Amino acid sequence: MSTPRRTFAIISHPDAGKTTLTEKLLLYAGAIEEAGAVKARAGRQRDATSDWMEMERERGISITSTVLQFEHRGHIFNLLDTPGHRDFSEDTYRVLSAVDAAVIVLDAAKGIEDQTLKLFEVARNRGIPLITFVNKCDRPSLLPLEILDDIEEQLGLQPTPVTWPIGTGIEFQGVADRRDRSFWRFERTAHGAKAASEEQFDSGRLIEFGEVGRASAADIELLDEVGADHDQKRFLAGETTPVFFGSALWNFGVRLLLDAVVDYAPPPSPRPDIEGTPQRLDGQFSGFVFKIQANLDPRHRDRVAYLRVCSGRFERGMDLTNHRTQKPFGTKYAHQLFGRERDTVEVAEVGDIVGLVNAGDLVIGDTLSESGDVRFPPIPTFAPEHFRQAYNLDTGRYKQFRKGMEQLDEEGVIQVLRHPDRGDQQPVLAAVGPLQYEVAVRRLETEYGAKIDLQPTPYSIARRTDAEGAAVLAKLRDCEVLTRSDGALLALFHNVHRLEAARKNNPGILLDTIVVA
Ligand code: G4P
Repeated sequence: MSTPRRTFAIISHPDAGKTTLTEKLLLYAGAIEEAGAVKARAGRQRDATSDWMEMERERGISITSTVLQFEHRGHIFNLLDTPGHRDFSEDTYRVLSAVDAAVIVLDAAKGIEDQTLKLFEVARNRGIPLITFVNKCDRPSLLPLEILDDIEEQLGLQPTPVTWPIGTGIEFQGVADRRDRSFWRFERTAHGAKAASEEQFDSGRLIEFGEVGRASAADIELLDEVGADHDQKRFLAGETTPVFFGSALWNFGVRLLLDAVVDYAPPPSPRPDIEGTPQRLDGQFSGFVFKIQANLDPRHRDRVAYLRVCSGRFERGMDLTNHRTQKPFGTKYAHQLFGRERDTVEVAEVGDIVGLVNAGDLVIGDTLSESGDVRFPPIPTFAPEHFRQAYNLDTGRYKQFRKGMEQLDEEGVIQVLRHPDRGDQQPVLAAVGPLQYEVAVRRLETEYGAKIDLQPTPYSIARRTDAEGAAVLAKLRDCEVLTRSDGALLALFHNVHRLEAARKNNPGILLDTIVVA
């Protein structure tokens, strides 16, 4: 029997504390000895990485996702990191297609923010159960009951608080655990670098902790009356979210959250193939590519495809077949990735992520299996929201321009949209977040020696359509139908009014926000 897996992501609005929490989870799982180590190590590694990584360093943001694997309580955790910058990218959506659960981090002073909502929409679309961590309780916060209301009203999820804060801001002393009626009192350690010391008491003693203790006890009594208890079935069905309170900076409540991932987050389950037939976990090996990244490390000038194992067992060296091309794929160069570091992986189980190096033939969404018969559904994406016209500035370097575009498109850095009338050297580049353009321009120049100019277009909104819809829409004013490289047809509109008018005047026409080729 293999060690059970928990494959999950942490998502949050920027600055809510995702990076801090990730590091503290590693600290409590014993994967690092002191907080601060991961950032420092990433920093050293980055010194040697390519120019666009330089851009990450300059901005102090993580543009690319990493995978962290560690153990806790007899479980192997695969934590897939999502980009933490203000901008949104396709990457985040894709990472969420490869996890079985997510932890959503809220800032106790802010509750649900813009990007929390957007991420939640993606998670719901994927049917991923969510555990909520209300962070920064050591700072002036909203009332905990207000945060619950916010979750319920804005996300439409019933919050089921598992822990409850005892005081907030400077009076934050710990959290009560509603399950066993105890409470944990924490003490801060220097810079929160080591685990906080903690002591467990019976909840009956809460009132000894002055005004904040009494207020917490009263809240908990109220919660007991309304019966807001964790219900595993409803959580897995995406109806409820267990809520934990804490402070990642000071390590308060981090261990309880880590335990919740073991206790509540579901193990990998059989993933349905494109026909809807679930692939047996103990069947043949199968997995799908959810992310591709080129030139991750200039010392290895290569291209890594991240594969999520969905069934069977991966063994390095096994011969697989890519369903799309029906070509064999050798797995001699398989890696396990911890942040930016890589080790050769010999075996991987269902739920694990394998990095396949030199994956020149693979594209996002590809399924690899032993027989070559398995095909998982394509990864849906949301319609892009930014559109710029690209011009190749150096026509003498057309080949490099074309190759670079193709690569960035396959990696999902940018979506390349074309139309026969526009010509090959002037595609429209579409993105979910504008930062994607900066990455694309910089990488085209440094990695392919291709210079491009980007000009605004009149479009601000896109919807997926089909051939029938395209025939109608192409005749409209202020609308253009372009083809994405995977064959998906995107209708671009100047604004939402034009879109609504097109919808109204052509009832029954396909105009969808979710894009699948
Ligand atoms: P993100 O990945 O979600 O963008 O957030 P990140 O962890 O980088 O945290 C954003 C800021 O919030 C950081 O401060 C971090 O130290 C702080 N923070 C995270 N968790 C807590 C918490 O529980 N309590 C308090 N009080 N602060 C917290 P910074 O000043 O921007 O960066 P740094 O100089 O501390 O690294």
